[in-house]
Amino acid sequence: RPVRLAEYTPPAHLVDTVQLRFELGEEWTTVSSRLTVRANPERIEAGPLVLDGRELELLEVAVDGRPLGEGEYALDAESLTIPEVPERFTLEVTTRIRPQENTALEGLYKSSGTFCTQCEPEGFRRITYFPDRSDVMARYTTTIVADAQRYPVLLSNGNRIGAGTLTDGRHWVQWEDPFPKPSYLFALVGGDLARVADSYTTMSGRQVALHIYVEHGNEDKVDHAMRSLKEAMAWDEATYGRECDLDVYQIVAVEDFNMGAMENKGLNIFNTSAILAKPETATDADFQRIEAIIGHEYFHNWSGNRVTLRDWFQLSLKEGFTVFREQHFSADRYSAPVQRIEDVRRLRTAQFPEDDGPTAHPVRPDSYIEISNFYTPTVYEKGAEVVRMMYHLLGPEDFRRGTDLFFASHDGRAVTTEDFVRALEEASDRDLSQFRLWYTQAGTPRLFVDAEHDPGAATYTLHVRQEVPETPGQAHKQPMHIPVAVGLLDRAGNALPLRMEGEEPGGTTRVLELREAEQSFTFTGVGEDPVPSLLRGFSAPVRLEHDHRDQDLAFLLAHDEDLFTRWEAGQELACRSLFRGVAAYQAGDEMRLDETLVEAFGGLLRGDAGDKALVAEALTQPDEGYLADLMDWPVDPEAIHQARRFTRARLAQALGDDFLYSYQANQEGGEYRPDPGAIARRRLKNLSLAYLVAGGVGEGIEAAREQVHTATNMTDRLGALRPMVAEDVPGTAESLEAFYTQWKDEPEVMDKWFAIQATSPHYGTLAGIRRLLEHPAFNFKNPNKVRAVLGAFARGNPYRFHAPDGEAYTFFADQVLRLDRINPQMAAALARAFSRFRRYDEARQRLMREQLERIRQDPQLSRDTFEIVTKSLGAE
Ligand code: ARG
Ligand code: ZN
Repeated sequence: RPVRLAEYTPPAHLVDTVQLRFELGEEWTTVSSRLTVRANPERIEAGPLVLDGRELELLEVAVDGRPLGEGEYALDAESLTIPEVPERFTLEVTTRIRPQENTALEGLYKSSGTFCTQCEPEGFRRITYFPDRSDVMARYTTTIVADAQRYPVLLSNGNRIGAGTLTDGRHWVQWEDPFPKPSYLFALVGGDLARVADSYTTMSGRQVALHIYVEHGNEDKVDHAMRSLKEAMAWDEATYGRECDLDVYQIVAVEDFNMGAMENKGLNIFNTSAILAKPETATDADFQRIEAIIGHEYFHNWSGNRVTLRDWFQLSLKEGFTVFREQHFSADRYSAPVQRIEDVRRLRTAQFPEDDGPTAHPVRPDSYIEISNFYTPTVYEKGAEVVRMMYHLLGPEDFRRGTDLFFASHDGRAVTTEDFVRALEEASDRDLSQFRLWYTQAGTPRLFVDAEHDPGAATYTLHVRQEVPETPGQAHKQPMHIPVAVGLLDRAGNALPLRMEGEEPGGTTRVLELREAEQSFTFTGVGEDPVPSLLRGFSAPVRLEHDHRDQDLAFLLAHDEDLFTRWEAGQELACRSLFRGVAAYQAGDEMRLDETLVEAFGGLLRGDAGDKALVAEALTQPDEGYLADLMDWPVDPEAIHQARRFTRARLAQALGDDFLYSYQANQEGGEYRPDPGAIARRRLKNLSLAYLVAGGVGEGIEAAREQVHTATNMTDRLGALRPMVAEDVPGTAESLEAFYTQWKDEPEVMDKWFAIQATSPHYGTLAGIRRLLEHPAFNFKNPNKVRAVLGAFARGNPYRFHAPDGEAYTFFADQVLRLDRINPQMAAALARAFSRFRRYDEARQRLMREQLERIRQDPQLSRDTFEIVTKSLGAE
């Protein structure tokens, strides 16, 4: 059943050109294709022609113009085989599909009346029979025929080369894509859409038309996306020397989309949530996310499209690299340390648990049952970390030489992660052979650091030990090559210049290259016992264990020159305090607030620490899911919830004046602008407000009630409503209702309205979730709504999701099964909520396991969900 990397073979047949003709209709859509095919010269014997196809109605198949009879080909549920074919030939295939009934949102489907496609990874085979694999690259010409009234806009990849009208009220448009591409980058759109146009002049002076298509009425929500696109184009020129190769770059926004967006060549398709924004409806976080995703999809034009993947095991070649490029872009646009903190937060909350659970897999997996299940935090975020480590090991210049070499030598080809690493090696004098283990070994390495100061010799030694945990299918691990950036602080908080045996003193940060299971690193000229600042900038995706005292953490939080490590010290201090609360709660003792934490946080609030965004990040509590991940077995979601709640409220009370001051000092009038300074001020202001509401501070509650109505932007409006809903302060129900009335016609805003309720301990009870599902604004077929309620409930509300009676589990499994009939990709994503059941106590384990078993036994279960539940249950 599983597909294995080790079994890769080059395609038997290649396709040079593809001519497609779509007749879009209300009942069905007819797809005619004409392919020029030839045997792959790399293969000794091509053998039969095997084409992929799923859920297609085959109308006709012809070779060199001659229609084939029944006995001349074979059909099954997943393929069309023609046993006898010439060396070179033309293949014509006509199929019929029903996009209006396609709720899986793979292939050609309809979203709010608009025809659109999602072909990555294997959606093209739901459109026509084709060698649907990324190492078959062809030139596409696409003709689209549709009713002129209903579907005035007809788009595909490349340039528009013709158009006309038919006598029956239909019209047609023809597109030609000059670049050979794999089928997963094909796209088509047909609908009645508004177009916002702009243009960009590339560094060599080429004009690129920029067209963003949205539903009528949304034209006022694309300014930010358009600006971001131009910024991204300029950034890729400046940073990677990559220029846009198109005459027209098109983006279409659709409401129903399984992921954020898709980089189809010259015709990106975006989830509306990843593109539409205006101050009244979108938050600062939305503005930043949109810029990042616009950048991400644009950067794929080189990292993914010009140089593409040999096979799906190489997915991180484009995704890890592109996420790294996107993070770097965002860091340059906003604040580098804050960006790093957010990247790490995301890695830790999503990827670390995956790496530590039954669906753990390497950045380059070696097998899969359903490739759609591998668009994971490991492939994306850990993949980006791996590229980032190489960037730092090589340094910016050599890294750039390496990427230049990579793009130049593989342009127009389908390659592997190995080709990428080799290009970086060739352009530098680095040996990355051991480093390659990051691609093949799953599991988050653990680092244990012990320090030893010898006052007599004035030396300071760090003993570092690494352990790579066992993961499914990988029992024995080899030591990894891990860059560990460190610094040392003297007792006055100054960074010491670092010097190692036989070396000149260098800067204040030193990257230790750990290659062995255990290694020691000695610094000389260290007279007084320093405080070590470890894993600066989060130089490697590892779990670090050290024995810092609370005072050391507070000291680092106040003084470290590395802003990431400052934040990290604050988080660790907060985690320690929270786990003391957890222990007290479990023992039935009174929970107490740590003075060290109060002082440290108070210092941050009062100090004029320049970067407000960083202060806000430092004051943000680690979330319940992250704490669960850190907790020793068994995870106690209730104790975590109570300890976190207690700490938040007590901190707010202890620092009430400081929070009030910060709330007031960061008010600002004037026009909303999503620039770094303003975003940071709003963030700190609304964080202070949330603490005040949590602490039950009267002035804070008053302020929130006021702000939720008077706010002129969505950041402030939600900044008030979210803590109200989280604490259910008097007046919350009315505010929720008023919010609904005001925003019910804005689907992206309704998603937020659903999510803040689904994650609230008061509104996100099982009864509350049931009510949300029955709400008229909810729609089970829309992935954004499913994520806003069910996804948010499972991930953002562990206290209620893991209620001890197990009723939420049963309910949730019902929803997984119901969704599996509609949209297997989404169902499989939801089913992951049970995957770490072994982390919980025996009673919860049994309850979750029962639900996993029940899902697994469903006779119609999709391959997607099957893979997740069987891997979760594991071999027992
Ligand atoms: N390549 C896209 C991106 O990361 C996401 C692909 C969507 N895949 C899917 N299985 N729906 O930009
Ligand atoms: Zn991507």
